[in-house]
Amino acid sequence: MTEIREYRDSDADSWLRCRLLSFFPTEYFDDVVVERPTFSNLAHRLVAVDHGAVVGLMDVEIFPDRATIAVLAIHPDHQRRGLATRLLDAVLPRLSVDVLDAWTRGDAGANAWYQRSGFAEEFRYLHVYKTWSDEGLVAPEGVDRVVTAFLQAPISAEAAMRERFGRVHICRQYVRRL
Ligand SMILES: CC(C)(COP(=O)(O)OP(=O)(O)OC[C@H]1O[C@@H](n2cnc3c(N)ncnc32)[C@H](O)[C@@H]1OP(=O)(O)O)[C@@H](O)C(=O)NCCC(=O)NCCS
Repeated sequence: MTEIREYRDSDADSWLRCRLLSFFPTEYFDDVVVERPTFSNLAHRLVAVDHGAVVGLMDVEIFPDRATIAVLAIHPDHQRRGLATRLLDAVLPRLSVDVLDAWTRGDAGANAWYQRSGFAEEFRYLHVYKTWSDEGLVAPEGVDRVVTAFLQAPISAEAAMRERFGRVHICRQYVRRL
């Protein structure tokens, strides 16, 4: 039985591997971290552990007016077995704010999971990548050329952004009232 428990410092390597493998098949494939992120606010950090390995993880950061799922990732070999739901069920009783939110891109699995877990979409905007083959981004003074860049834009600019850049993601805010 996979155990849901608090994150421990000794989980760090296994946690990073789980996050990397979970994000690899998604629109967050290159959102790689090589050190376990820390939080300046209070954060609930939970893991799902199977035979000593982290196979699921959820960090929830607490703000004065809300809590935000900073990361949720289930190892691909352990998905659709209820682990994300168990992590959510474990964190909910620890929250004393009225709102839990999360931000995600277009992956069908993530969107389906938030919708079936009581979240509703409230806001969307664009994550835009300038890759080496997208021309025409003016370099700041003193810079020869902008090779790659990560840009954010309003959803109203979607057509213009897709015309100009090869990689555009819609980022959605999901909100669950508690
Ligand atoms: C989204 C994610 C967290 C779901 O975790 P999970 O442990 O597989 O989810 P659960 O088992 O608790 O819930 C499964 C339900 O979620 C939905 N769901 C999950 N993955 C799905 C998929 N690939 N396609 C369609 N629905 C999916 C379905 O409703 C599913 O129920 P079903 O299997 O009876 O159809 C997991 O797929 C994941 O880590 N994805 C990669 C990272 C990611 O996108 N993180 C979240 C956003 S940053």
